[in-house]
Formats: sequence, structure tokens, C-alpha cells
Amino acid sequence: MERASKRSKLQAELDELRKTIEAHNYAYYALDNPTVPDAEYDRLMRRLQEIEAAHPELVTPDSPTQRVGGTKLEAFREVRHARPMLSLENAFSDAELEAFDKRVRDRLADADISAERVTYWAEPKLDGAAVSLRYENGELVFGATRGDGTTGEDVTHNVRTIRSIPLRLRTSRPPAVLEVRGEVFMPRAGFLEFNKAAQERGEKTFVNPRNAAAGSLRQLDPRLTASRPLDAFFYALGEVSDELLRGLKTQSAIVEMLKAFGLRTCPEGAIVEGVAGCLEYYRRIGTQRASLPYDIDGVVYKVNRLDWQRELGFVSRAPRWAVAHKFPAQEELTIVRGVEFQVGRTGALTPVARLEPVFVGGVTVSNATLHNMDEVERKDVRIGDTVIIRRAGDVIPEIVAVVKDRRPAEARRVRLPKKCPVCGSDVERSEGEAIARCIGGLVCPAQRKEAIRHFASRRALNIEGLGEKLVDQLVDLGLVRTPADLYHLTAEQLAKLDRLGEKSAAKLVAAIAKSKETNFGRFLHGLGIANVGEATAMALANEFGDLDDLMTADEERLKQVADVGPVVAAAIHAFFHEPHNVEVIKALRAAGIRWPAVRRKSGDQPLLGKTFVITGTLETMTRDAAKARLQALGAKVASSVSKRTTALIVGNDPGSKLQAAQELNVEIWSEAQLRSALGEA
Ligand code: IVH
Repeated sequence: MERASKRSKLQAELDELRKTIEAHNYAYYALDNPTVPDAEYDRLMRRLQEIEAAHPELVTPDSPTQRVGGTKLEAFREVRHARPMLSLENAFSDAELEAFDKRVRDRLADADISAERVTYWAEPKLDGAAVSLRYENGELVFGATRGDGTTGEDVTHNVRTIRSIPLRLRTSRPPAVLEVRGEVFMPRAGFLEFNKAAQERGEKTFVNPRNAAAGSLRQLDPRLTASRPLDAFFYALGEVSDELLRGLKTQSAIVEMLKAFGLRTCPEGAIVEGVAGCLEYYRRIGTQRASLPYDIDGVVYKVNRLDWQRELGFVSRAPRWAVAHKFPAQEELTIVRGVEFQVGRTGALTPVARLEPVFVGGVTVSNATLHNMDEVERKDVRIGDTVIIRRAGDVIPEIVAVVKDRRPAEARRVRLPKKCPVCGSDVERSEGEAIARCIGGLVCPAQRKEAIRHFASRRALNIEGLGEKLVDQLVDLGLVRTPADLYHLTAEQLAKLDRLGEKSAAKLVAAIAKSKETNFGRFLHGLGIANVGEATAMALANEFGDLDDLMTADEERLKQVADVGPVVAAAIHAFFHEPHNVEVIKALRAAGIRWPAVRRKSGDQPLLGKTFVITGTLETMTRDAAKARLQALGAKVASSVSKRTTALIVGNDPGSKLQAAQELNVEIWSEAQLRSALGEA
């Protein structure tokens, strides 16, 4: 009784495994659109093999273990390989590799061949699509995919479009028949470029370079294949003329011969001695993996002597003389447990997926950035989803895709929070913008240091001596929370900070006090409103003249200012309607910050009728800002010097304009003269 129930349970697991694996096979081979990472597929396959090995009576001819892999798409002509295209046994650890090497030596010993240390030909295991090419009398007559190993698909037309594949062998005495096996792949750079372009056109992107290669090779229209950045390396033989075979003694000689024929071979191939040599090679290629221009998923070792290869022979459809030593998977499955939003120094909100911890690419990963809401929407990531996570080299882990058919009914969409998770201020995401921002620029702890550093910077309130390190300390010690707090610091408090003696503390207090006398434009710039740079701040100052008028202006009114479009108008409006910001502004005014009344654009225009040209780098403002301010006072700003130029304003490293002005006897102004013309001290 108990036995029977155990058996039916096992049978149920077998049925389930076979069904799942077949579904994955179809998605992978026929649709070039895998639903799960290789590691997951390998685990299922291994479990199936394990059960079948323990219960051979349960093996069925249609079990996925009974075929080499692959399934054919209907549209291509079927071709039977003259020699089967083999698969490889895998080794997932050093111990499994050692066991392989021992089996090789034991078997050779049985044939009275004593090999203390076997010499292997080692090369990367390329992650592409296997192909077989047939050259007759030196001419490429035929190209096929691997298919199920026995029959593949005729992709001759497509193979012929791959530029590195010779249509004719480079030899004056070509063999009657040469079949070569290799891997078509898409180099990583080409893959990234291709996906970027496809995304921009709104077309389907590929999950990884391998699927891109397989998909491209199986295009019905060869013109499409031709447009894809494909390449190919060759590493083995199929059917070949006897006269050619006779001269070949080793695997490395085969590779040399292919190279001489003009076929590309992997430049990393090498001869290694024994297990120790294999492991050394494995580690070396492992460290290079992330920087190789193409994807690999392990290394392959082949017994180098061909007579020994013949002696060892085959088991089912894999050679006994070769093994694939796999690298840790770079893609794994895991579950999105939640999505949190991190606030950066500039207020940008970044969605970060909290994951069920998973071992991938050699480390345990529990978070993955989703960059921004556009990305979340494009990938359609939801909380509760099963996702493919990828970690390649030292690159930060990313969510590659969602496994849609594993989405639970209760999966929740990711929503952008309305309030900043750090400070509770409003979150703004303008139409068409990928990035959402917290608008509590002056109060948000996440943005505090950046806000204060910006406020004190030279082109804003210009507090001399208040560098980044000091700002860090002041915020970390809780002495400063908003820019307004700067104005209440005492010399005693400052003298306690690292690297600040009494003298410099007193100097800093004086500099802070001095910054209270400013101008309206600098003050606005210092507030750090998103999308409001120095020039826009100056333009706003000139246009409004009065802070209260600006703070109460609606978006329509704001849009009347030069350079202020809908996005900037919305940012300004939102900033001044965030109560925390309003409070800080109030505190700043109460601390005594003031500026001379600004002459309105429509009113007094002391520079009307004058034309200026600016050259070189100014120290206290950008050229754009200087231009905006000059224009606000009625001046024109031209791009080249002429006789009509009133003055050339010269900053550091002036250009050829300076000489032109001297030749034309045009007046030359320093930055100080400019500032006095602008009404600054
Ligand atoms: S040798 C007789 N060498 O791996 C041995 N295969 O899992 C035939 N592959 O179908 C394979 N790089 O598509 C060999 N350097 C390499 C390889 C390689 C990738 C693929 C090949 C094969 C599969 C077996």
C-alpha cells in the first residue's frame, strides 16, 4: 500500500517535471524567448535525470532526457546532420571535474594506455547558438542549426550573411568535404546597441545575447539576419574527407587547421596539463569573464589526443572525452517581496526591489535597483512577481524580466508614493519625465547636505570657507538641518568641529554673516529648486523683483518668463507650495537675509541701447546668467565684437574676441566692472 502510493507520487513528479521542461524547451528553442534562467532549467533536468537513473523502468522514449535538446520551428527546411551534433556533460564543481578526469584516466588504463596526466585542449564555452557548416570543394554549401542534434534547420541563407564566415575556404587545395561545428554569437556591445535601438523603435528586445543570436539566426528574412551584429567561432568537426582526417593528431591541430582555412576560432583556446592545468585555466577565464567581449557560461576541456578520443568514445549523445565546466549562474529566479523608494541627494526617487535573497553570479542578492518608474512600467514588475535576476561580473544586479505565467493573482502594482518617504513632502513627476522628485529640497534629510552645500556655493549665497566636509559634519552633528540654521551658528560651536580652529571658526561666522547681504537672483538660485539654474533664477528675479509676488504666481504667470516652460513652471510652483519650504524661507528672512530692490524689467533700464560681448569664464556667475541680467537691464548681448560693441567683458582664459576688441578699440571690462554695472557691490 505504502509502496504504491510512493510510486504514484514519484510518477506524478516525473509527469510534472517532463511537462515543465517541455514547456521551457518550446519557449527557449522554438520561440527564442526563455521563461526561466538556465540554472532553473538545469536543476529541473538534473532532478529528472536523478529519478530516471534510480528508476530506469520509468524512462519513456519521449522523456526530455532522451533528446539532445532543441525543437524545430516549422518554417525551416529540416536537415539531417551527416554526423550528430553532440551535447556535453557538465561539471558544476572542482570535484565533479576531478571525477571526470579520473574516469578518463581509468578508461584509458583499461585500454592499456597509462596517462599520469592527460593533456587537454581548453576553451571558453560560448553562450550562443550552435551551427554546422558544410564546405564542399572549399565552398560554403550549407548551414544548419543544431535542432535536436540529429536533425536541424536549414539556415544557409542566414549564415551566409554573417560577415566573418568565409563563403570560400582560404586554401588552394580544399578538401572535398569539410563540416565544421561552432557557435554563432552576438558580441555584448552589439547586443546592447541592438536592444537600445529596438527599444527606441518600440520593438521587442532580447533577454540576453544568446537568445539574440539564436533568434537572429532563425529569421525568415535573411536581410534581417544581415542587419544583426553576429559573429562565429568554430571548434569541432562533423563529416570530413578522409585525406584531411589522416593528417590530424590532436584537437589543437583541428583548431589550427580551421584557423588556416579562414574560419574564426576562439582566441582564448589553450593546451593545459591535467586537472591542475584545467582548474588554473578555469580560474583565469573566470576572472576575465566579465571583460570578454562575448558571453560565456563555462569552459570546455577536450582530451587533446584524437586517438585517445576514439578510444574513449561516447555515452548516449555526449563524448566521454570532453566536459563543460560551468561557471556560477549569472541569472536566477527569485520573488519580489516589495518595492521601496530611495531618495537621492538631488531628491530623485529611485525604486528598489526587495528580493527574496538569491545566490547569483557568486553572491547573495537581496535588492535590485529599478532605476525609475518608466523602467518599472516597461518591465511591468509587480510585488509578488517571480523575476529573472542577473548579476554579471561586478555590475549591479538587475531584474531582466518578469516570468509572467508565474504571476500570482494577488500581485500588486508598484505605485509611486505621493509623499517623500524620508521627509513627507510632496513627490512630483512631471508629464513625460522618467524621474520623480521630492520637492522638499530645503528640508528633506536625504537632500539636506546637498541643499546646504548648494545654498552656500559661490554662485548662490557665496559663504566662503563652508566646504563639503564642514557641511557633512554640521549635518551629522545635528547643528544644521536647513540653510536657515547656518545663521544661528556660533564661533564656539564651530570651533569644536574637526579641522577648524578658533580663528577659522570666527572667520566662518563672519562669512556667514556677510552672505546675508545678497541679491535676489542669488537667493533664488540658492534655494535649489529643481530645474532652476542660475540663469533662470536671475531671469525670475528680474521679472518679479519681489519674493512674495513670485511665491504666489501661478504657472501661467511663471511661463511668461524667458526660458520657463511648463516643466520648470510646475517645479517652481510646487516648490513654493510645499509648506516646509515656505517655513525655511521665512526663517531665512527672519535671520536677516536681504537684497536691494530689483529694478523691474519694464521700468528702469539703465543699460538700454548698449551692446555687450562676453568672453572667457566668469568667476561669480555663468555667462548665461550674466547675459540674462544684462538683458534685464535693457542691454543687448551679442556673440561677436564689432565697432558698435559698447564693451567686451573678459573672464578667465578669454578667446580671440579679446584681440578683436583691441583692434577695434572697443572698451574692455573686467568682471568687477560688470558686477558694478549690474548694481552689485
Ligand atoms: S564542443 C564534441 N566546444 O555547448 C563536443 N561546445 O553543451 C561538441 N559549446 O552544442 C561540443 N562552446 O553548442 C564545444 N568551445 C566549445 C563550445 C561548445 C559552446 C556548446 C555547443 C554544444 C554545447 C554542448
